[in-house]
Amino acid sequence: MRLLITGGAGFIGSHFTDMRLKRHPRDLVVVFDKLTYAGNPANLSQAKKNPNFKFVQGDICDRAAVDRVVKKYRIESVVNFAAETHVDRSILSPEDFAKTDVLGTQTLLEAVRKFKLRKFLQISTDEVYGSIERGAFKETDPLKPSSPYSASKAGGDLQVLAYRHTYGLPVLIARSSNNFGPRQYPEKLIPLFATNALEGKSLPLYGDGLNTRDWVYVEDNCAGLDAVLEKGALGEVYNIGGGNTRTNREITYGILKILHKPESLIKRVSDRLGHDRRYALATTKARTLGWKPQWTFAKALQHTVAWYRDNPAWWQPLKSGEYLQYYRKQYKV
Ligand code: NAD
Ligand code: DAU
Repeated sequence: MRLLITGGAGFIGSHFTDMRLKRHPRDLVVVFDKLTYAGNPANLSQAKKNPNFKFVQGDICDRAAVDRVVKKYRIESVVNFAAETHVDRSILSPEDFAKTDVLGTQTLLEAVRKFKLRKFLQISTDEVYGSIERGAFKETDPLKPSSPYSASKAGGDLQVLAYRHTYGLPVLIARSSNNFGPRQYPEKLIPLFATNALEGKSLPLYGDGLNTRDWVYVEDNCAGLDAVLEKGALGEVYNIGGGNTRTNREITYGILKILHKPESLIKRVSDRLGHDRRYALATTKARTLGWKPQWTFAKALQHTVAWYRDNPAWWQPLKSGEYLQYYRKQYKV
């Protein structure tokens, strides 16, 4: 397959790129990425060694640039990871979220239509369903997003489904739960808390710390996305989750224990605006594709935290960025 991976210089997209090159050695893989603050060429250092890998810097909202890359590399299918992804940033400045996550998705769909591509896989999120007190969301549940981020992702999903309904495009949607693993930008809970603890800084736990997420190790998520791309039925939505529902407090204690750091580093701070209480996904449908998570949560957390401990050169420069400076001031950490 001649595959275009948008947003492939970010966290999940770079893991997916590595997995595709390994599992499908005859594929051509082209990463198309704007290199926003979250895009990091270092994430593709392994992929760059492979002659079947190409990188093009570009914006998914730029129709001419998207058309050029599709034509130049005779692209057959697209996997769209490109997005603004951090909920707290979307609360501060929502505009780029609507641009990239809705209009960028639509620009890619136009390219799929124009060049009659074989498949388009949209990478979406469990956050489009909103919060759930008990049980787990199924793919047929209604969308009820509550942050500017999740509303933008839901907008992207609706564009994808509308292009299926109206033009019959060969689309798929995967909705993943909270990923964790190496190379995740240190603004998200697990890498932020692991690196703060390593630096002896406090861990700002929002509200009562009892908000719950369904955690999936990034390699398990990528294997699920690969199964959807290869075997999913066109027009369908697939949930990909790890089934590891944990409160933020549990995650925080887990990180401190692995690093042998004191619980006194935990700092209770004011809550995130509109903070969703709990996410959980039912993954029966994805499992019919022959996929299931392989990593236990404990082993994956241990492995992830050890990676941040052993790779300060990757994350230290990122923590001096403008947003994280603002964030530190806000929570006095
Ligand atoms: P990330 O923030 O680490 O990376 C996003 C990438 O997209 C970066 O490389 C960035 O440069 C690129 N990008 C942003 N805007 C772009 C644009 N306009 N044009 C081209 N490239 C652009 O994100 P991530 O955590 O790896 O998430 C990847 C995808 O998975 C996103 O669509 C996100 O909504 C979805 N998702 C993430 C999680 C999670 O827990 N991280 C869970 C479910 C779904
Ligand atoms: O559910 C999937 C989503 O998971 C993805 O679609 C998003 O792209 C990704 O960013 C993530 O969103 P969350 O908001 O769930 O992740 P985050 O790591 O920002 O926060 C996880 C939980 O930890 C959440 O309840 C807020 C809390 N938190 C987060 C930070 C950054 C804190 O208590 N303190 C913090 O400093």
